[in-house]
Amino acid sequence: MSMENLKADDVRQGVRENYAAVARKNGACGCSGGATSCCGTPNAEETSRQLGYSAEELAAVPDGANMGLGCGNPQAIAALQPGETVLDLGSGGGFDCFLAAQRVGPQGHVIGVDMTPEMLSKARQNAVSGGYANVEFRLGEIEALPVADASVDVIISNCVINLSPEKARVFREAARVLKPGGRLAVSDVVAIAKIPPEMREDMALVSGCIAGASTVPEVEAMLQAAGFTNIAIRVNEASREYIREWAPGRGIEEYVASATIEAVKLAPAERSVKPVLDTRHCSVDPNFCTVIPACPQQAIEYVKDDEEPIGGRIAFDLEKCDGCGICATVCCGSAISMQPVGRVVEKAPAAPSCCCQR
Ligand SMILES: C[S@@+](CC[C@H](N)C(=O)[O-])C[C@H]1O[C@@H](n2cnc3c(N)ncnc32)[C@H](O)[C@@H]1O
Ligand code: SF4
Ligand code: SF4
Repeated sequence: MSMENLKADDVRQGVRENYAAVARKNGACGCSGGATSCCGTPNAEETSRQLGYSAEELAAVPDGANMGLGCGNPQAIAALQPGETVLDLGSGGGFDCFLAAQRVGPQGHVIGVDMTPEMLSKARQNAVSGGYANVEFRLGEIEALPVADASVDVIISNCVINLSPEKARVFREAARVLKPGGRLAVSDVVAIAKIPPEMREDMALVSGCIAGASTVPEVEAMLQAAGFTNIAIRVNEASREYIREWAPGRGIEEYVASATIEAVKLAPAERSVKPVLDTRHCSVDPNFCTVIPACPQQAIEYVKDDEEPIGGRIAFDLEKCDGCGICATVCCGSAISMQPVGRVVEKAPAAPSCCCQR
């Protein structure tokens, strides 16, 4: 395991311990020192009303599901339809899952994923007490979702992705599990100014949904690289009023604000470019190939073929490929280039030798 992964795991462990404590105390941890915060508030209903949830929504979920942990209302932008499959990243006590379950109805299905076992137990108890048959909660990390490829219509999430030390992975995973044309409807905290290093390193501020936030251009770039289109990120300036209370006196409202993040997973038919491999510069060694694990759509595979001079070939599944271009960026031999769809490539561009060439 690399140092980077170790650090990411340390961050996740700190965040997990924080939310385990929140779950045990039923939503009041005061991790960032504030009276209210994304890690818990004694007055969850009032907090959620401020975030845009209606009185009917608040009354419609099992007692204890709303722990006041959000920073917006993803339901308001998700436009959920009956029969849809919805995935909630970092589902906490299940609040947004239960609201989504009512919108998608008995033909629909809602999956909540959370990495904190104490939260998961709470959410499962809430599902039983509320009699929800179309909701399930799975233990897992949003960087490695326990969800099948292309199986979800809509991903929602409320104040969670900022907590991840590996946000690009989260967006790649989101793209993997969404069906082509599937949508992302997220409320999260974004950075509106450069967060000072002493704040970035303050674990209480990381767990409090403040210090780990990325800027809007960073989020846009990660979404684009993961294969999303129609990206719309809207910062809610007014949110700085209540965010100030998450860590009074620290001036955090100068650095972060709540935002809605919307995007659509590119459908293969919408791609305008496709990857083309110049076999002269490719060693076709599946053990070293950097592009197979990097493809967010899992559209690249090694195919064993005794007819080939070196016993196999690297193949693209263009039905799955959305033209994101990541393979061309990471191919160590620069053997892959992106070409306009429909163009016949007579001679692939010259490329330097691949580092994995035998
Ligand atoms: C601020 S709370 C939000 C909970 C819920 N979305 C809500 O609005 O009530 C963050 C939740 O995300 C979970 N979480 C944080 N990082 C995660 C990760 N990397 N993978 C899975 N869950 C994560 C935490 O365990 C916690 O339950
Ligand atoms: S040249 Fe590129 S495609 Fe070929 S094996 Fe190396 S990384 Fe894979
Ligand atoms: S362009 Fe490359 S990395 Fe992107 S989806 Fe297609 S094959 Fe995968």
